[in-house]
Amino acid sequence: MHITITRRIPQLAQTLFEQHGHTVYTWGGNGAMPRAELLQEVAEADGLLSLLTDKVDAELLAAAPKLKVVSNFAVGYDNLDVAALTAHKIPAGNTPDVLTETTADTAFMLLMAAARKLVPAQADVKAGKWHTWEPLGWIGQEIHGATLGIIGFGRIGQAIARRGTGFGMKLVYYNRSRRPEAEAELHAQPRDFDALLQESDFVVLCTALTAETHHLIGERELAMMKPSAVVVNIGRGGLIDPSALYVALRANMIAAAGLDVTEPEPLPADHPLLTLDNCLVVPHIGSATYNTREQIARLAAGNILAGLRGERLPHCINPEVYA
Ligand code: NAP
Ligand code: GLV
Repeated sequence: MHITITRRIPQLAQTLFEQHGHTVYTWGGNGAMPRAELLQEVAEADGLLSLLTDKVDAELLAAAPKLKVVSNFAVGYDNLDVAALTAHKIPAGNTPDVLTETTADTAFMLLMAAARKLVPAQADVKAGKWHTWEPLGWIGQEIHGATLGIIGFGRIGQAIARRGTGFGMKLVYYNRSRRPEAEAELHAQPRDFDALLQESDFVVLCTALTAETHHLIGERELAMMKPSAVVVNIGRGGLIDPSALYVALRANMIAAAGLDVTEPEPLPADHPLLTLDNCLVVPHIGSATYNTREQIARLAAGNILAGLRGERLPHCINPEVYA
């Protein structure tokens, strides 16, 4: 059978497919595969290994009459139209668990770097502005003992919480549903959304992006936070209204932000947020370690192989297709 991979990913996926006798087309260009080429290419595809930058929607499915399985090279799947996939009886897979710890590491890295002004401090060293030990320079927010507010208490949210316990932080969380086991294990306390915003020194976003969570953090929410608060977004850029964030950071209504994900992505180099010293932005590197990306490739390939055999996907996001 024929598999389309929309971007170069760790080689082991293609190797596995070829070992199973499948033919593979991998988009070899830089950047996301152009939409027109993707629509043309899927005409022959039995399996599609998509990236989070590819929209898999009704238009694409109409162009893919042979398609039997879609596997997203990510745990988040806001780029997939799940209802359309299910309507076409096409199972879709994602890559949970293998990236949880690495993504939580990235969130904590951003939290610490944004709180302690790591990037502007280093920029000053490089610019020859480190003249002496500074009693009043490069002062940031304290991390140990602070209140860590986590929005989205799923796998990654809980992994971030575990890191917080190591720093003696007080843990509060907001989630659509209560997580009693995690509460007990981590001594995390549930909070109403507004109460979490008011109480937290660090507000970390790790919920899925859906119609309900789009611009979850906007002008109203930023105004409720402490002036010393640091916001970290490791979920999806669309969780934060970027214009409201710019206004809040510029006016020092909150202290800082650390963003792994932005709206839009990529963030243009002339975007107002990038003019601010208190806004740290990295290019969606949450899961970017050699080992984790290999593990993601292995899981994504496993979903495709199962789907092509007509078996249940190991990590299926629309199990209703099997009903
Ligand atoms: P997870 O365990 O499935 O957690 C998903 C979280 O989102 C849960 O807290 C869930 O609440 C919440 N949620 C889902 N739909 C919602 C809705 N409609 N309204 C409110 N809350 C909703 O997933 P995970 O593995 O922790 O990953 C979480 C997200 O992180 C992914 O969706 C992805 O967007 C993002 N991510 C980013 C990177 C990166 O590189 N920056 C890497 C990996 C993942 P319930 O508990 O109530 O279901
Ligand atoms: C990355 O953003 C993922 O969802 O895996």
